[in-house]
Amino acid sequence: ATTLATVTVTGAGGQIGYALLFRIASGQLLGPNIRVRLNLLEIPAGLAGAEGAALELQDAAFPLLDAVTVTDSAATAFDGANVALLVGSRPRGPGMERADLLAANGAIFGPQGAALNAGAASDIRVVVVGNPANTNALIAAAHAPDIPRERFTALTRLDHNRAVGLLAAKLGVPAGDIDGVTIWGNHSATQYPDLSYATAAGREVRELVDDEWVREEFIPRVANRGAEIIEVRGSSSVGSAASATIDHMYDWVNGNRGRWTSVALPSDGSYGVPEGLISSFPATSVDGAWRIVPGLDIDAFARQRIDASVRELATEREQVQALGLI
Ligand code: NAI
Repeated sequence: ATTLATVTVTGAGGQIGYALLFRIASGQLLGPNIRVRLNLLEIPAGLAGAEGAALELQDAAFPLLDAVTVTDSAATAFDGANVALLVGSRPRGPGMERADLLAANGAIFGPQGAALNAGAASDIRVVVVGNPANTNALIAAAHAPDIPRERFTALTRLDHNRAVGLLAAKLGVPAGDIDGVTIWGNHSATQYPDLSYATAAGREVRELVDDEWVREEFIPRVANRGAEIIEVRGSSSVGSAASATIDHMYDWVNGNRGRWTSVALPSDGSYGVPEGLISSFPATSVDGAWRIVPGLDIDAFARQRIDASVRELATEREQVQALGLI
């Protein structure tokens, strides 16, 4: 076990980056015994934000923080990286065509995948936060042929945590009492937040809430929570997104004692999801690797919801293939 880890954060000068850096440097990403070297990657326009954050990190005098490097070179940023949090991306702007969005992200995640392939440590773990996260992860993985596919994941832990939080509030129990929740599919409004196997302090949730609430309220509220946050706050989710990113990587590295979480990872064909698509599954973390929860019965409603979201992912993959991005 290493006692010094290199953590690369892209888009480190942005909002989620700012919320992430202090938690990483305090030891919450990897655990209390691992010193961290932080590499902050930005585009030139974002460098000042990252440099400012680096000054504040120094001012926080974190005992576990070994060094901070701010750069606009992917080769420098990913050199020796054990963990990569890919936050910077090109989200869809008003009036932006789908093809333009995918092309812009291909220009980011292709070269970043290649730089990871060239320079990252052999135990590299990657989570893509920047949207469209699943397909950006697919592009990065395609440019990193020497890195095992399963090291490339995309974040659906925020959706998962939103589902847990909403259910806990409905039942009036602490979030820690909830287990067995799944987000299936794409990190988009087509995702399927599934309570079929959920429990609250060991009791089956299906016996505690009615189907109508699940279908009419819970599912659309989780799937559209990002828009709800923007409406109420006037700006997108930042603290919760950073928190979910920390949860995802902490659990991946440290294991999660058999609890279910949701992770978008390259499909091995499980549950009818075409192999290679980066789709969200129920998973546990064992010995430093994600394991898809096996053997679940999928009812007709779930099948239809999962298939719809997976179709969207397959279409995105066809589009990036057609654009020559993978
Ligand atoms: P932001 O705009 O505040 O920060 C993004 C930063 O990325 C900017 O500083 C920008 O300069 C930088 N950047 C852009 N291209 C880059 C590149 N090629 N290399 C390095 N840095 C680059 O945005 P915010 O709020 O921090 O969100 C970041 C991303 O996370 C967005 O794409 C957003 O849609 C996504 N997101 C994903 C969530 C998820 O659950 N998967 C949840 C919330 C946000």
